[in-house]
Amino acid sequence: MARVIGGLTTSHIPAIGNAVPREKELVDDPYWKPFFAAYPPARTWLQKVKPDVAVVIYNDHGLNFFLDNLPTFAIGAAAEYRNSDEGWGIPTIPPFQGDPELSWHIIESLVHDEFDITSCQEMFVDHGFTVPMSLFWPNNSYGGIKTVPVCINTVQHPLPSPLRCFKFGQAIGRAIESYPKDLKVVVLGTGGMSHQLDGERAGFINKKFDLLCMDKIVNEPEVLTRYSIHELVRQAGAQGAEFILWLAMRGVLHPKVTKIHSSYHIAVSNTATGLLVLENSVA
Ligand code: DHB
Ligand code: FE
Repeated sequence: MARVIGGLTTSHIPAIGNAVPREKELVDDPYWKPFFAAYPPARTWLQKVKPDVAVVIYNDHGLNFFLDNLPTFAIGAAAEYRNSDEGWGIPTIPPFQGDPELSWHIIESLVHDEFDITSCQEMFVDHGFTVPMSLFWPNNSYGGIKTVPVCINTVQHPLPSPLRCFKFGQAIGRAIESYPKDLKVVVLGTGGMSHQLDGERAGFINKKFDLLCMDKIVNEPEVLTRYSIHELVRQAGAQGAEFILWLAMRGVLHPKVTKIHSSYHIAVSNTATGLLVLENSVA
């Protein structure tokens, strides 16, 4: 049977997508050094556990979906996912391999479980997906793994609540662990932490709330599922609502997890960056 072996979270800021190809020359750069210094333990863990598939929970920012057509929950079921110029100047990187059979299993299981998602047989993936993949697997090798993109709307209100996203993650976990192939699966939750890119509070960062989230998500995620979306926006900023992607990731994992690594750093671009590596307990 397929097994969820763990989960990772990381910010997905486009500026990182530009820095990643220059990581070797930036390791001693005062701006980038503390950011890149956090990633080797996550990469080492991935090399040790050798996942076969990454289920990547992210949000699209206008590349594949736009305001006229914006599903709450969408899942890719393609053999390959490409990215494309989003206007941030990030290099376009090689396509990601899909796993249509696993995607369809997850889609069927979710609809059966009362999550009416949008299935996508063609899908572009934006920086919410590509930046974490290129950070965790440098040199665009992606560790030879297959991917399943899971896209949640964090852009146009109404957004799904933290609790709904956590339950969505739990349903994805049930789906993966009922898949008959022996696969090791990691789940990524991208985006977050606190940030607001526009409006009166542009540049808003809430360190106290970020650290609470990073702490509670490990073994008391239900504390965070009690926030409403509006309270989350108040605490984390309009784009900090991307934290619902982390909660969906956490829902996929088992109730008990072991924290392998974490890092919190202010700031890259306009946001606090957060990294977590959580290993699943044995079921
Ligand atoms: C930034 C952060 C994001 O989450 C994003 O999607 C785009 C830009 C930023 O801080 O620059
Ligand atoms: Fe974002």
